[in-house]
Amino acid sequence: MQFTASLSRGVRRSACAIIGVHDDGEIGGASRGPADAALARRLHKSRDFNGRAGDTLLLPGDGDSRLLLVGLGSKKSLNRRTFRRALRDASAALVRSGAADAAFFVAALEVPEVDGYYRARYVAELVEAALYRIPDQKTSGKPRPSSLKSVTVVVADSADLAAARRGVAAGASLAVGQRLSKDLANLPANVCTPTYLGAAATRMARGQRNLKVRVLGLAEIRRLKMGSFLSVTRGSDEPPRLIVAEYRGAPAAKAPIVLIGKGITFDTGGISLKDPPGMDEMKFDMSGAATVLGTIAALADAKAPVNVTAIVPTCENMPSGRATKPGDIVTSMSGQTIEVLNTDAEGRLILCDAITFSRRFKPKVVIDVATLTGACVIALGSHVSGLMSNDDQLADALLESGRRSGDPCWRLPLTDDYADQLRSNFADMANIGGREAGAITAGAFLWKFAAGLTWAHLDVAGTAYQTGAAKGSTGRPVSLLLDYCLTHGR
Ligand code: BES
Ligand code: MN
Ligand code: ZN
Repeated sequence: MQFTASLSRGVRRSACAIIGVHDDGEIGGASRGPADAALARRLHKSRDFNGRAGDTLLLPGDGDSRLLLVGLGSKKSLNRRTFRRALRDASAALVRSGAADAAFFVAALEVPEVDGYYRARYVAELVEAALYRIPDQKTSGKPRPSSLKSVTVVVADSADLAAARRGVAAGASLAVGQRLSKDLANLPANVCTPTYLGAAATRMARGQRNLKVRVLGLAEIRRLKMGSFLSVTRGSDEPPRLIVAEYRGAPAAKAPIVLIGKGITFDTGGISLKDPPGMDEMKFDMSGAATVLGTIAALADAKAPVNVTAIVPTCENMPSGRATKPGDIVTSMSGQTIEVLNTDAEGRLILCDAITFSRRFKPKVVIDVATLTGACVIALGSHVSGLMSNDDQLADALLESGRRSGDPCWRLPLTDDYADQLRSNFADMANIGGREAGAITAGAFLWKFAAGLTWAHLDVAGTAYQTGAAKGSTGRPVSLLLDYCLTHGR
């Protein structure tokens, strides 16, 4: 997709004009001229277009030109969320329309707390999201490919052009990362194995000068003494991988941001086997891995002047005659021993060794991303990711990046009282902390491996994918992570 920014008068006449209309019939943002405003008022009066949030109306023009009206709701309720919703609705209608060329006049709208850079970035992100198709294996009924080729973000003033251009460029790079992340997470677990993830990471680095990917196998993971990670992969016939992707866009002396992604390509629960209903969704248990790789892909695409390393421990969690059993005690790479009381609490077991491994990169910060607990979904639902951290400044920065990027997270407390729930009579700690505060005790477990590091944990169990009729990966939190890296990595 070709994204550009332009003043209203620079827009081609053949482009489908996307114009926002409030629920009082007034246009919000730019338009092609007084005729559009008159038309919007007329359609409002006749109740053919009410301008409510969620409304869209496509009208033919002369020749190839079209007009796509999108409802903005009341002026009072205009904010980041309602603006993004309007862009999402407009993008879906645009893709359905079959237009080849489009201009978002609505992007010139002043939105509280959203500057021109982000308005443009949202346009590119959400148009690409509307174009996204799951790499399915349906043998019939495929939709025909979209004809959309070019999208222009309209600005009100030439002084806004530079920010809008940076915005669409960042949004297009973001979309590259989100697409990779969604593709990987949507694949079935019989395709997307740890070996496949390693190959996908290697493929991502092809032709990228600033990006190096190494994929370690079982022998090397053993040599690193990752006893906790190894205890999870034991029951599986698929070999594990430890993926390291180093993006270096800044001088080597600059300490990297390290992103760690949980890469359980399928989580059966192991010997602590899960209930059958919905178990297919545990193919999404590598979403953390998919999003940290997606973030690296986005940074490389943007040629961002930052240093970021992604670490992905990846394996399956399977029951078998060789699988780890409840009560087994394992020794992590850090030397701390863990009593595995529940083999379904496997994410923390692979992540703790990855956190220890991250120390060799002398990181500025370490952020792990994981579909870690069902408890987080109960606590926060699917709207915000759970955030836990041992550093207030890092936590605040992630909260802010989440807000700005429309990919929010919410902080949960981490205190010694929660860590105490992990006490074991037989080892340094247990891998579960009882029924209460399950999302936090999982975070507290990881915290024990982050001593001396500036560290944060994102539990994306509720946000990384949708269930039900819209089942599929959301690509979250690539947007949050990219925003954080672009803002704090330079
Ligand atoms: N991958 C799951 C967490 C999960 C659950 C993600 C539901 C998305 C939706 C994780 O490995 C797990 O099984 N966690 C257990 C922990 C428990 C045994 C302490 C859980 O949440 O039930
Ligand atoms: Mn599990
Ligand atoms: Zn899991």
